[in-house]
Amino acid sequence: MTDLLRALAGETPEKTPVWFMRQAGRSLPEYRELRVGTRMLDACLTPELAAEITLQPVRRHGVDAAVFFSDIVIPLRLAGVEVEIEPGRGPVFADPVRTAADVDRLTAIDPASLDGEAIAAAVRLTVAELGETPLIGFAGAPFTLAAYLVEGGPSKEHLRARAMMHADPEAWNRLAGWLARVSRRFLEIQRDAGASVVQLFDSWAGSLSPADYRAFVAPHSRAALDGIGLPAIHFGVGTGPFLPDMRLDGVADAVGVDWRMPLDEAVGLLGPDVAVQGNIDPALLQAPWEVLAAHVRDVIDRGRGARGHILNLGHGVPPETDPDQLTRIVALAHGEQD
Ligand code: CP3
Repeated sequence: MTDLLRALAGETPEKTPVWFMRQAGRSLPEYRELRVGTRMLDACLTPELAAEITLQPVRRHGVDAAVFFSDIVIPLRLAGVEVEIEPGRGPVFADPVRTAADVDRLTAIDPASLDGEAIAAAVRLTVAELGETPLIGFAGAPFTLAAYLVEGGPSKEHLRARAMMHADPEAWNRLAGWLARVSRRFLEIQRDAGASVVQLFDSWAGSLSPADYRAFVAPHSRAALDGIGLPAIHFGVGTGPFLPDMRLDGVADAVGVDWRMPLDEAVGLLGPDVAVQGNIDPALLQAPWEVLAAHVRDVIDRGRGARGHILNLGHGVPPETDPDQLTRIVALAHGEQD
């Protein structure tokens, strides 16, 4: 078993396992070069390209896991929803889903019918190259997907999605239930093609009150992951006020923690039955190495009380990051650098 899988199983790994959210992407010059002339979602659906981009950070940094190069909106594109990624902005939908009639039209699409062959082919190519290193498959959690879909694009407080929960709870639950099935299908395609861990990204869950998270979101996220048959990591940003709920009644094997809460405090809230992932502050990637190294050591120390600790950032790698900083963090976690 690799160190990542050991940490997820609650066993003691030989070395602290480490990977980075958004490790594949714009911080790497070799990524920027490969992406010239190809739109983001087209790159995700070109198996050779997606596999190569997934492998780049593994070769460069020696991380303990690959994370599949794709996007949370890919299964929606595969379901026939018109969506693009605008560079520097994020996902944009041609037809926002705002009314009960919009929800009806969308949920008439059967998630089981989406064509996952390009994804499966990319995962198979990646896994064949990875050898022992595990591939983390992922999907967007229903709320984070809805935050884009209801608004029509990126927003700060995700007001329209949060409003729908209260204005028309029946429509909201139908929409979130459908999104859970779409993301579940995306996870199953990656699992069946050889991914060995999954992560559910609920990046914007921190905009919810604990009561709304419990009533309108957690059951749908749980449905996306429950019974998937692989170790599961559940990640969100700003989820401190309801962190124990992120365990999804034990369905999550690890909970991702952002940089705002010291990891030992998170471990105290989560209890002894779950591993933690995090929580290097992405801002410190800009600091001199000695400053960053002291922060990384502190994060590792605070994670010692957990059932298992996977070292990662508190959110994704910012595009302007010097990739050498990431390579040094991996070496430090593996005891090969001071
Ligand atoms: O390395 C990895 O982490 C794997 C690949 C990955 C991408 N997106 C590639 C990507 C993963 C896991 C995601 C998930 C994702 N996509 C999330 C959840 C994670 C998070 O960061 O909170 C979200 C919210 C999205 C939606 C999305 N896609 C946004 C907000 C953006 C950024 C837009 C921009 O240009 O700043 C994207 C595009 C995207 N997804 C890029 C990458 C590498 C950048 C596109 C580019 O290179 O032009």
